[in-house]
Amino acid sequence: MAYFEWGVDLVIDNGPIDEDHKVLVSLVNELHTATSQGQGHDMVENLLQRLVSHTRDHLQREEHIMSAAQFPQLTEHLVGHNDFMDKLLELQEKYRAGSITVAPQLSALLRDWLSIHIRRYDRELLVFMKKSQKAQQATQRSQRRPSQPKPGR
Ligand SMILES: [Fe+2]
Ligand SMILES: [Fe+2]
Repeated sequence: MAYFEWGVDLVIDNGPIDEDHKVLVSLVNELHTATSQGQGHDMVENLLQRLVSHTRDHLQREEHIMSAAQFPQLTEHLVGHNDFMDKLLELQEKYRAGSITVAPQLSALLRDWLSIHIRRYDRELLVFMKKSQKAQQATQRSQRRPSQPKPGR
């Protein structure tokens, strides 16, 4: 069983968001393997760099999608993204500065944050998209319905 297991409860759009999340999940797994096996500093640092850059790209992509969809919780969502990015950069900095204690915490922190964030906050986008799809379908149905003659009085 993988350290960070992908599951259907992580599915958001069956598209670019899920693809990004899957890459992040596999990078967290790689980082966990590397740190728990005591891999060299360079290898862990390289993995961390990939994680940082993929996270940055992903957050931007997700924010664009949310903004285009007029996702109402976008402002709060951005706060969560910025906090996470700050935390990740801080850990990367600590690791670079030679803190060995930070290595085992890294994958746990990333896994926990991502799994909570995706399940709780990214999923709000899925709920919102389903709702707006239903609203759109209802509008289309009402437009297709032939107009009824008004009952005479
Ligand atoms: Fe996300
Ligand atoms: Fe997000």
